Amino acid sequence: MRSKVIAGNWKMHHGPAATRKFFNEFAPRFPGVEPTILIFPPTISLLAAAESRGGRPEISLGIQNIHWETGGAFTGEHSAGMALSAGACFALVGHSERRHVFGETDEEVGRKVGAAVVEGLSPVVCVGETLDERRAGRVEEIIVRQLDAALLGVPEDAVKSILVAYEPVWAIGTGETATVQDVEGAHGILRRRLAGVRGEGFASEVAILYGGSVKPENAAELLKVTDVDGVLVGGASLDPESFARIAEAA
Ligand code: 13P
Repeated sequence: MRSKVIAGNWKMHHGPAATRKFFNEFAPRFPGVEPTILIFPPTISLLAAAESRGGRPEISLGIQNIHWETGGAFTGEHSAGMALSAGACFALVGHSERRHVFGETDEEVGRKVGAAVVEGLSPVVCVGETLDERRAGRVEEIIVRQLDAALLGVPEDAVKSILVAYEPVWAIGTGETATVQDVEGAHGILRRRLAGVRGEGFASEVAILYGGSVKPENAAELLKVTDVDGVLVGGASLDPESFARIAEAA
């Protein structure tokens, strides 16, 4: 039985001061060790998050993006090793905003996943179709292609497990949530593909999260869906009260 994962992706919100304020309010509101809580602050706020979660290492941290190289002349980028030393244990890879706003390719996603697992970060691989792709009946083709490219980066003997987040692009920040049937269908496709490519044992270890307009009001229903092991929350993770309410729904 995988324990539920409640993850918050803050995107480009909450600098160091706002991060400290969030943790000072969130940590006492959520004293439990389950579900797994995972927060992705902006990179510049990682150290503030690590310090202000004070005495609560079970609140895990992640970085929103990494470069695949370990270091070098890559202005503005961060390596997996740097993220680890700033307190992160996870890395989002291939978020739809990275793919669609910054033009990240499947091949780059695979390289980043590889760098994360080799350096000891658990990658959270994001996949999801656009509205046009959904309308064209291409959901399975798109998410399987994105998953396969990410898995190419995972060595057979990887010690760190990966997580997958299904985030339909049309449901992100729009207030429109995928139906329970949509989510169950997509998560089933991903679980079967993981098993087909890497075997049942590997597939059963991978937590598959749903993301896209998750709120306190719909979290409990989504978390009950077969093969949904957690949620990846954007807007509603910025407020300590609403994020705590989502965590309580697990
Ligand atoms: P929203 O919850 O704001 O729709 O964002 C989802 C998301 O992109 C999480 O990574």
